[in-house]
Amino acid sequence: MPDSFSLGSAALLAARAVSSAKIQSKISWLYRLDDLERRPLTSGLTNTKMPSPSSLQHSDFVDSTQVESTGQLSAHQRLKIEDLVQPNTAAEAENNAAQEIITGLQSRPKTLPPQYFYDDLGSELFEQICDLPEYYLTRTETAILTAHARSIAEVTGPCDIIELGSGSATKTRILLDAYASQSKLVYCPIDVSSGILKSSAESLLEAYPSLVVHGLVSTYEQALEQLPRSQNPHRMICFIGSTLGNLSPESCRSFLHHVRGALQPGDYFLLGIDLQKPISILEAAYNDAQGVTAAFNLNMLRHLNRRFEGNFELGHFEHYARYNSNAHRIEMHLKSLVDQTVTLKALNLTVDFTAGETIRSEISRKFSIDQIAQTLAGQDLKPLNSWTDPQNWFAVVLAEAC
Ligand SMILES: C[S@@+](CC[C@H](N)C(=O)[O-])C[C@H]1O[C@@H](n2cnc3c(N)ncnc32)[C@H](O)[C@@H]1O
Repeated sequence: MPDSFSLGSAALLAARAVSSAKIQSKISWLYRLDDLERRPLTSGLTNTKMPSPSSLQHSDFVDSTQVESTGQLSAHQRLKIEDLVQPNTAAEAENNAAQEIITGLQSRPKTLPPQYFYDDLGSELFEQICDLPEYYLTRTETAILTAHARSIAEVTGPCDIIELGSGSATKTRILLDAYASQSKLVYCPIDVSSGILKSSAESLLEAYPSLVVHGLVSTYEQALEQLPRSQNPHRMICFIGSTLGNLSPESCRSFLHHVRGALQPGDYFLLGIDLQKPISILEAAYNDAQGVTAAFNLNMLRHLNRRFEGNFELGHFEHYARYNSNAHRIEMHLKSLVDQTVTLKALNLTVDFTAGETIRSEISRKFSIDQIAQTLAGQDLKPLNSWTDPQNWFAVVLAEAC
């Protein structure tokens, strides 16, 4: 295990270095960010009142094509949230989920799908991770977006903004600010975690009086097949926060294929990716000194207990994260501390663990810009620009559907 105190200090020093550098653009498709103003992030959840279900009913939703100005509409009329997991597909969705869990826990090594991190507590813990000193990802991406969102908006022109895995949508505000002058400001957040999707939508509507929000509680794939009709000449699908790194190369290709399928030629895809860097910085980011990442990882077992009548003893597992240099990825595991047997009654599943055996709960791949450019181009998504920070720790890439 790394010495998290000294690595944490190194990460802090590095973060300060990020904030003191200067902006410098390059003419090539790779742009560099040289002057990062470090903007402290506030947690969307700590400041946001969770809405009561009634405050989110949206029968009054008004299609903004029907009015002169969305400024005339109340927040209530500007909000629509659809739950794509309707009763007759819920069983199917639950079945698929069950199959994924059963297959994962019966494989060698054992794995679990990362979407089970995100119940309401998991989403809140993720927000806390974003503020950790060791977790450079969020503040670096925030700084890149802050410096370049206007350039992105200039390239794309008026767009509906669709966000996959929107979470608290904190960074989305930077994009909304850049697009705020367009006549129709339309945002479609998509997330499996309904609590955070609803609370973030409500606070965005308060902050942006002309914004129309049409949210989808859904998985990425489902939502990409059922996106609302665009109200602007183009749509831009955003997948920020380095979430692409959670997908294996094969799932990544399939995911990008779905993204491309939801775009018309001339539409856009905006992607935030974490870049390869020294192992000490990477491992510190996933083994924070305060143990928030450990709590986030272990919460997956609590989520499974609740959802599938499980009896995982959280005290019998421990968080473990390491960088796999061959695969260029962080691997997050839950390590069994004892020989034990766990049952998920609702799945009719019993799993044996030996002491020291792990469940891999997440991979977080670290890319190079050339590699991602090639992957995008392979899916008919033409890379137009990318922006990074002075240390080349993180990149935001804009591609056009062709
Ligand atoms: C790493 S967080 C990123 C949040 C935000 N985009 C950011 O940059 O801070 C990933 C988000 O994606 C959502 N998510 C994870 N798997 C998903 C899936 N398969 N379909 C839809 N949303 C998913 C989670 O609920 C969570 O809010």
